[in-house]
Amino acid sequence: MASTPALAPVTVTVTGAAGQIAYSLLFRIAAGEVFGPTTPVNLRLLEIPNAVTAAEGVALELFDSAFPLLNDVEVTDGRATAFAGADAVFLVGAKPRGKGAERAALIADNGKIFGPQGHAISDYASDDVRVLVVGNPANTNAAIVVAAVENERGGSGVSAGHITAMTRLDHNRALAQVAAKLSLPISRLQRLTVWGNHSTTQFPDVTELRDAATGEALAARLSEHWLTEEFIPRVARRGSEIISVRGSSSAASAASAAVDHMRDWFQGTREGDWVSVALPSDGSYGVPEGLVSSFPCRSVNGEWEIVQGLEIGDVQRARIDASVADLQAEAATVRALGLV
Ligand code: NAD
Ligand code: LMR
Repeated sequence: MASTPALAPVTVTVTGAAGQIAYSLLFRIAAGEVFGPTTPVNLRLLEIPNAVTAAEGVALELFDSAFPLLNDVEVTDGRATAFAGADAVFLVGAKPRGKGAERAALIADNGKIFGPQGHAISDYASDDVRVLVVGNPANTNAAIVVAAVENERGGSGVSAGHITAMTRLDHNRALAQVAAKLSLPISRLQRLTVWGNHSTTQFPDVTELRDAATGEALAARLSEHWLTEEFIPRVARRGSEIISVRGSSSAASAASAAVDHMRDWFQGTREGDWVSVALPSDGSYGVPEGLVSSFPCRSVNGEWEIVQGLEIGDVQRARIDASVADLQAEAATVRALGLV
């Protein structure tokens, strides 16, 4: 009897492998939740030298989990080894903020991590690599990676459009709030968008929200008062709420959002739906070209496409512009610090 040829393994790099998010994320990747139930996975775990031993402990637990799809695990503090041949990269390794701080205050500490990693991705990863930046401030760190890739001497095969930042956690938080408010299952909600920065200026937008089962537009069932006084501030400040209640920043929900982001990128978004992805703007919806901002996106044949043609009213315009201004201020800080 002819046997089915084994699929080629996908090589996946996760930075910050000894951290809180990675402790959930790695096990979900190894279980096949991102690349599918028949794709073997090689994991490359990058840590700083002081945390390599802890990351080796995580690798021992991955081994003990006997995941049928886990082909190989390598722990390293070297970028060349970590990114060699990577098809997918999760840039998680970075400091989280503490209680009462804003994510933008992390730029000075975290920004310097991402330039060298961008260069190493250009030098060592697969040309077709897909990168998700999770470490905060995620949009601006992704912009630093884009600058590194674009400034690569002799050119980089890595496309700037393959460098994204995570606003999927905001997207999921917004879906959960609306589902609870309307007493609808999450699976019934489609076409929610988070615009802008993964910061308090983000704009979770329900204008196009619809019921997947009936096609009914749902925005009219949500009062203006609830949207502006409860929903938008709650979603935009949910990261701080988690920090103050849990004592440290979201980890399992962040890992879950990272799984959703990369799974949809590799395997496609749901028919008729879209998700929120921060990627370098092509000028769509008046967002200046190159800013890494969140848009409604569909994954088509492994590429994110910004959903075009949505009508933007005055209130939406003002909120998107405020988040763009926030991103521009972070970009100015990055330049002032000499990080690009
Ligand atoms: P953590 O402190 O538990 O883990 C971070 C890990 O990164 C540590 O083990 C640290 O040693 C490692 N690290 C630091 N610099 C590194 C480098 N140069 N290379 C490789 N590893 C390095 O933090 P966490 O809870 O896992 O969060 C990680 C980041 O993700 C934080 O910046 C946090 O704010 C951010 N975050 C983003 C979102 C989002 O929605 N975009 C959600 C949650 C958390
Ligand atoms: C989040 O949104 O939970 C993360 O960005 C962590 C944080 O600092 O809020």
